[in-house]
Amino acid sequence: MEISGSTGPTLIGKRIVLGVTGSIAAYKAVLLLRTLLREGAVVHVVMTQSATKFVTPLTFEVLSGHPVSTEVFEAHQEMKHLSLPEQADAIVIAPATANCLAKIALGLGDDLLSTMLLTAQCPLIVAPAMDGGMWTHPTVTEHVRTLRARGTVVVDPEEGPLASGRIGHGRLAEESRILEALQTALSPLRDWQGHRILVSAGPTQEPIDPVRFISNRSSGKMGYALAEAAQARGAQVVLVTGPTALPLPKGVEVVSVATAEEMTQALSMRLAWSSAVIMAAAVADFRPKYPASQKMKKQAQIDQTLDLERTTDILASLSAQRTTQLIVGFAAETCDLIAHAKDKLTAKGLDLIVANDVTTEGAGFGSEQNAATLIDREGAITELPLMPKRALADAILNRAHELLRTRESQQAPKPVVGGR
Ligand SMILES: Cc1cc2nc3c(=O)[nH]c(=O)nc-3n(C[C@H](O)[C@H](O)[C@H](O)COP(=O)(O)O)c2cc1C
Repeated sequence: MEISGSTGPTLIGKRIVLGVTGSIAAYKAVLLLRTLLREGAVVHVVMTQSATKFVTPLTFEVLSGHPVSTEVFEAHQEMKHLSLPEQADAIVIAPATANCLAKIALGLGDDLLSTMLLTAQCPLIVAPAMDGGMWTHPTVTEHVRTLRARGTVVVDPEEGPLASGRIGHGRLAEESRILEALQTALSPLRDWQGHRILVSAGPTQEPIDPVRFISNRSSGKMGYALAEAAQARGAQVVLVTGPTALPLPKGVEVVSVATAEEMTQALSMRLAWSSAVIMAAAVADFRPKYPASQKMKKQAQIDQTLDLERTTDILASLSAQRTTQLIVGFAAETCDLIAHAKDKLTAKGLDLIVANDVTTEGAGFGSEQNAATLIDREGAITELPLMPKRALADAILNRAHELLRTRESQQAPKPVVGGR
């Protein structure tokens, strides 16, 4: 296949696992394999049992120069379900049957290909192929939606004559589209390059005495995901974090704090350095007014009241001190989500607010997933459905980046008109 405008092999040294499943379009995977090899990739093919009924493993073995695997238990000492995805830069499944999409969406692992996907950390690109009636079946639609929400790249099938003799939507996408999706997945966005982002994460702890404190349920996962995503997209990131149990994100400068006051200091002193601030931390609103210097005795506490005072409103204070920084805040609410979030956006002079209902099942504090509504100053609303926090982080960064670009274009000097 000729790639127009191609300047030479684009996948040199990339290790790709090509998954082939039991579709009539399986023969097209042979052509795709040849293209991947021509682009310089090292390709290992994994077939399902059904796929071997359409094309023999021998064809793929000879062309790829590597044995083709199908079963978890064949050559089990090699633990291919772990080693293949671990070494892969990307996994491409083409063609992907309706059955294969369902297994990925549900997390089933009953053969090598599906088990491998449960351990894979690299980008996954699937190119479905099936009869038109299958592609539009609500179950398939639902599974495709689930995969996309998890960050899988789905290369939609095309319309045309199908194996059944009918015309419909279900033909495997053109090879050039699959290759393009793979190339894009392997050269991630660097749209935040040149930006310096300050991210806050986690809870704060407000001491009652040297061993007790007031805190909240924030796990820090959302803020850490934002820091990781921004770093991966080229930004220089400082993460100011309250106490969490999370591993520190790579390539990010981490400043650990405990109290709201320490967090205020750490953020304020770095505000001028930053071009954007994302406040994902759940900062305590109140702290004990008179923290005890010694551990309070059990007896003494029985009828003692705890006097509280307000902590610094970090968002409002950063917003008041800012010059050109874009400020993104979070609103974790339990009712009247949009109304409360809009009030907060206005009251604190934010550019964007990420509103999330922490009572939603499977979302919020501690969970791996979250759903959110983004609201900007102009009142534009973007609904983000339940998805992994890392995918949500990318979606928030997309919107924040759009706002930064709009602002930059508005601040750019106006062209001189006339001059004749
Ligand atoms: C001739 C023939 C062609 C088929 N083509 C497709 C297809 O294009 N897409 C699909 O989803 N299933 C197709 N199937 C059904 C799958 O092979 C079947 O669902 C199988 O269980 C898929 O297994 P796998 O996902 O493990 O490869 C076809 C079956 C036959 C007999």
